[in-house]
Amino acid sequence: MKIFLDTSDVDVIKHHYQTGLVDGVTTNPTLMMQAGRNPVEVISEISSVFSGRGYRIGSISAEVVADNAEEMILQAEQYHSIGDNITIKVPCTYEGLKACKALSDRNIKVNVTLIFSLSQSILAAKAGASYISPFVGRCEDNNIDGIDLISSIKRVFTLNSITTTNILAASIRNIEHINDSYKAGADIVTLPPKIFEEMYKHSLTDQGLAQFDKDWKELNK
Ligand code: E4P
Repeated sequence: MKIFLDTSDVDVIKHHYQTGLVDGVTTNPTLMMQAGRNPVEVISEISSVFSGRGYRIGSISAEVVADNAEEMILQAEQYHSIGDNITIKVPCTYEGLKACKALSDRNIKVNVTLIFSLSQSILAAKAGASYISPFVGRCEDNNIDGIDLISSIKRVFTLNSITTTNILAASIRNIEHINDSYKAGADIVTLPPKIFEEMYKHSLTDQGLAQFDKDWKELNK
């Protein structure tokens, strides 16, 4: 049960990485635009965060942007040369799947993104993807049951003994999406940092802590 952060903000990643609870990072062109920096530099810095001594190496998804497999592969090679923890993110298109097959044949890890159907997941798994990213929130925006999609993918992968393609629930908008994704069989959920911060919070925890603090002060008066 892994947690990734869905952001290109290196400082935020460094901050949350210190918890020891973050297993990887996903980025995309929109997140890169928000960061407003050179994507290769951003990916290099994120890669270094996860390369620190004594820490897990993680998986950092770097998305290629091109309309043909050849160009995607060229961009992928540049990202892959940054470090062993780089995963290449390709869209679930005809060209993206071709690039996925070619890269995974070379043992380069690939995350097939923008997954909205079971059939797309099947092709991505056959193309050797290490990760597939069903977009729960965007499914919901389009009246598709994203959680049911994850359940179906999990069922088909289990029936076919597919163990090398991880289901990475993406486009997460709230805590219910996280809980429901794991319940449906997601291996990983990638979270906007704000939602990661909400995960540990509960009003009853705050109330209970306030009472314990009060009683502790009373005891030590
Ligand atoms: C996943 O890898 C994507 O970066 C991301 O989860 C998309 O989320 P959004 O639908 O909130 O943009």
